[in-house]
Amino acid sequence: MPAPLDVLPLADGVGLPWDVPVDDAVGVIAAARASCGDSFVVRSGGSEYLFTFSPTGVESFYALPEGVASKGVADYLMLRRKLPDALFAGRRLLPSSLFRRDDVSSYLAHLDHALDATEDELGERGSVELFALTRRLGHRMGLASWAGPGCAEGDAFEELVRAFDVLDGSQAFVHPDAMAAVAASGKRDERTALDDVATVIEDAVRQHDSESQPDDGLFGRIVEAWASEAAEVRRRGIAMDVALIHIASMSNLMAALGWAIVDLLGHPEQLRLVVAGDADLAQRCALESTRLAQRSIMARAVVEPVAFDTGAGVVDVPPGWTIATLLPLLNTSVAPGLEGWEPARWNRHRLAEAGALASPMLVTAFGHGKHSCPAQPFSLSAMTMAMTRLLGGYDMTPLWEDYPCPVPAQIGGVARSAGRCEALYVRR
Ligand code: HEM
Repeated sequence: MPAPLDVLPLADGVGLPWDVPVDDAVGVIAAARASCGDSFVVRSGGSEYLFTFSPTGVESFYALPEGVASKGVADYLMLRRKLPDALFAGRRLLPSSLFRRDDVSSYLAHLDHALDATEDELGERGSVELFALTRRLGHRMGLASWAGPGCAEGDAFEELVRAFDVLDGSQAFVHPDAMAAVAASGKRDERTALDDVATVIEDAVRQHDSESQPDDGLFGRIVEAWASEAAEVRRRGIAMDVALIHIASMSNLMAALGWAIVDLLGHPEQLRLVVAGDADLAQRCALESTRLAQRSIMARAVVEPVAFDTGAGVVDVPPGWTIATLLPLLNTSVAPGLEGWEPARWNRHRLAEAGALASPMLVTAFGHGKHSCPAQPFSLSAMTMAMTRLLGGYDMTPLWEDYPCPVPAQIGGVARSAGRCEALYVRR
């Protein structure tokens, strides 16, 4: 018989960063865990959260069915702190439609072209902020892949980059402390940026309509989904589908690529092998850097009452609660040796020594269970291609002295660097 939730300790006075000012979002939950144990309750901003970190609790978490405890609802509740409601209402193609057959090879071809453009911009030598470089690369690849004709070059590209940087949904978890100001402004800047995105994409739709050759990629599928609507509704609907897909898709990948480059620059032997074409090693490096950079809060919004096994007992969790775990408190600490960068610990997409863990689900880069990332193979291929080309094409010298730190308030996604990660480069 499940117990009521009040058998669990309450982390008294703990608030989450979108509700109260917090210096170190992950540190606050770590301190609550140190005093309360592996499963506890947080009440913050009028909402209730059950955090769990025990092997059984984490396994129960990944087993939660979507209809009972929803990842989709939890993501929406997070993203709507930053993004205008107009972006969510009435979408026809969602980010989950990104990976049909042939899609990945087309995205990788666009990445190849985006890398050509990046090399043109870098020129022979100079200095560059690595995370800005990867972010721009991600915009170019993504927009070429699904935003319609002309959106990945020239003025249209620059306009979209500017608007998407304002409209960056990941700010909801990278800078949760900034969300009160976003709410106070009525999301004014975000709504303006969304209109700017719509103007550029609607022009791309007009250009698409005037071309005889049909687009057989994702943009073509989005256009098709709106085919029966009147002109204005159709253009706006297409633009909003493109915008949500772009916002939801690229930012973690490009942050992870940034860390993979940072880590390889600190490990010259592996760097040499990756540049020489060892794609298998490159994928392990990508997984390892992503594991270490994980700041994800994994959350499920409870929509039906659920009996949840925390490992210390089964509790009844009512609708309206959120069940959560936090990867940075697991990934590097559930077994000795996990704190260091060691690509050899990965065997294909799995930890070689997962059997030594109390549960294999305690460590992850791309998630476990039904909701695990559908973009994992694509992301690893994209990171491999980008690392190999950028580090093979340029000799880079990092200008940072200490290993870069994540943004302290960040609670979600792949870490963003708190400081600038500047590197000098010269073409090889
Ligand atoms: C290195 C890059 C990436 C990392 C580390 C990553 C990580 C993750 C993780 C940990 C989850 C599971 C979250 C959970 O269970 O709550 C997830 C789910 C998801 N990811 Fe990724 N991801 C990456 C790139 C991408 C890209 C590029 C896309 C799209 C283009 C994408 C689309 C998705 C989607 C749609 C889901 C939800 C799947 C579902 O709910 O069934 N991801 N990702």
